[in-house]
Amino acid sequence: MGRAGSTVAVVGATGGVGASTFAALLARASARADRGRPVVLVDLAGGGGLDVLLGVERRPGARWPALAGLRGAVAPGDLDGLLPRWHGVEVLSGHREGPRPDAEAVAAVLAALRERGATVLVDLAAHALGGRVGESVGAHAAADGGGTVLLAHQDVLGVAGAVAVRERQAGPAHLVLRRRRSRVAPLEAAHVVDLPLLGLLPSDRRIADAVERGLGPQAGPRLRRAVARVSARLAALT
Ligand SMILES: Nc1ncnc2c1ncn2[C@@H]1O[C@H](COP(=O)(O)OP(=O)(O)O)[C@@H](O)[C@H]1O
Ligand SMILES: [Mg+2]
Repeated sequence: MGRAGSTVAVVGATGGVGASTFAALLARASARADRGRPVVLVDLAGGGGLDVLLGVERRPGARWPALAGLRGAVAPGDLDGLLPRWHGVEVLSGHREGPRPDAEAVAAVLAALRERGATVLVDLAAHALGGRVGESVGAHAAADGGGTVLLAHQDVLGVAGAVAVRERQAGPAHLVLRRRRSRVAPLEAAHVVDLPLLGLLPSDRRIADAVERGLGPQAGPRLRRAVARVSARLAALT
């Protein structure tokens, strides 16, 4: 018997906090930790395509526009070998052209991935949380305990953004903070946002540089360890 998969959504409290990067690094950490299990990174951030951030935009394989019309049950095997890969992670990226998936397509794909036993990380736009796509992702994520991770800067604006996201929608279940030199202590931030703190991410100057060179986010040892800790905590919840 294969184990059922798990789904975790990553939402940024404010634009540019590093949610897409964090989702990608979490996916890579999961692939490293459990080599027997497929790991899929699903782009529902609504931007120009996660494949560009990862530097795999020229690799062949399906993007969301090819799957946006899916309805109902999808055989888990139908998604095998269909998606481009990035460091052992299968990537279902958006694309700047073509249709975006609606809630039905998202539900069909997430159900098939879960049945395949995949660990699924969803890069989810905060503005999607109140809508049907967000609800569909939230239902999948809540079902296996993974839930939604809200990433916020550890400062006053980050906390304000996190509170706003949380008040609009009951989705987020855990908080991760991106470290900032700030008067706001991490536990104080978690208290105000009223979510359990799952970890702290250091800033890493290598990230932007590697992305610019088309290598995707390459974390140095400190950030990699921090992401691995969050990944282990999430795995323990599911
Ligand atoms: N931990 C980090 N340390 C330093 N820079 C980061 C980190 N995470 C992301 N970045 C940089 O911040 C910018 C925004 O990252 P991105 O993941 O696209 O944010 P979001 O998805 O929240 O808009 C990018 O230039 C990225 O390289
Ligand atoms: Mg993003």
